[in-house]
Amino acid sequence: MTYENAKEMMTALGQEHIFKYWDELTEAERKALLGQIECTDFSVLSRTEHAADEGRGVFSPLAAMQRDEIEAREKELHDAGIKTIKAGKTAALLLAGGMGTRLGSDDPKGMFDIGLTKPVYIFERVIGNLLDVVRETDTWIRLFIMTSEKNHEATVAFLKEKNFFGYREDRVVFFKQDMAPACGFDGKLLLEAKNRISTSPNGNGGWYSSMVRAGLDKILAEEGIEWIDIFAVDNVLQRICDPCFVGATVLADVAVGAKVVRKAAPDEKVGVMCLEDGRPSIVEYYELSEEMMNAVDEKGEPAYNYGVILNYLFRTSELPKVADDKMPLHIVRKKIPYIGGDGILVKPEEPNGFKFEQLVLDMIHQLPSCLPYEVIREREFAPIKNATGIDSVESARELLKLNGIEL
Ligand code: UTP
Repeated sequence: MTYENAKEMMTALGQEHIFKYWDELTEAERKALLGQIECTDFSVLSRTEHAADEGRGVFSPLAAMQRDEIEAREKELHDAGIKTIKAGKTAALLLAGGMGTRLGSDDPKGMFDIGLTKPVYIFERVIGNLLDVVRETDTWIRLFIMTSEKNHEATVAFLKEKNFFGYREDRVVFFKQDMAPACGFDGKLLLEAKNRISTSPNGNGGWYSSMVRAGLDKILAEEGIEWIDIFAVDNVLQRICDPCFVGATVLADVAVGAKVVRKAAPDEKVGVMCLEDGRPSIVEYYELSEEMMNAVDEKGEPAYNYGVILNYLFRTSELPKVADDKMPLHIVRKKIPYIGGDGILVKPEEPNGFKFEQLVLDMIHQLPSCLPYEVIREREFAPIKNATGIDSVESARELLKLNGIEL
């Protein structure tokens, strides 16, 4: 792409200010900027009118498999799960492409040390949880790790240095997720260097398309992987590919299993599993009408009562049917580093712009069926989003201690 073409294109988009430092750039720096412009999808900036949250369908309840049923059928579910895992049909995928801006560390979130008397890294906890299943089933489950251009090198170097916390390196495959441009509240692109437009990872819903672009769907096919457990990096208590969850999803013969927790209060701020126009979906807490909040099931319990925790077991044969262009874009307010008027990089303390993200929960809505599977909150849900307060390092430490984990 020539400078003239790029200038014309960016002017048409009202974004010609990104050439502000052009005269100061070396030949190599100019080339890098032109290269970035060429391979960036700027259409997200104008897709704001198709933003998520608009035009939802008709909601109805979707019953979860609750603890009493899981406990009554434990042996059956467990045996089915063990059989599936031992046959090599199950893989795990760690979503580690996020920026973790709320936690406030520049390192990948998984490198965060939550230990008190010894180092205990977030990566160590989640890999340790998966290792429990590896030991129980005597099967080295294929582990995919999604990073982004922003944290890939640091993540790989850290895990290598730590010997993958005991995981077999040849069973681990990394891939980078795609990036999307980020802009200020005024819709203008920001620069993160004089020759580089600010970009952010394109959301955790981009995992499958990024995986295909990296050619990794071939591994799924070659190794006969029929199920893939997608999980967030920051829930340090979650079980991953645990046999009962795998068995319940396989036996229910659904397109996806979703771990859910019972809501702590009717107005708790979590996304709740439901049906929307007859397909599985997630209704956000602010979309719950008074009527939905008061609706009850046949047991007299709240009908919209199970919140998702970002741990899903997808049937791999369903994934190619999920169309990337049908995934809505979520416009998220974030802290985006940018070059200020004096040419110096500013790291804002408060959100200063928008990122454009696809979310896993929108994949669920494209699938024909889903099993919400209840897990006990105190045993399986300790997300680390913030440094202090709700869903923080502090709250996760308390929950880890409650579960007998030494810190
Ligand atoms: P969050 O929604 O907590 O986002 O991600 P985040 O970017 O990590 O953190 P904040 O909001 O900036 O503080 C939930 C999970 O999805 C992954 C994260 O790594 C985490 O495991 N994720 C998020 C990605 O893999 N890619 C993304 O683009 C966004």
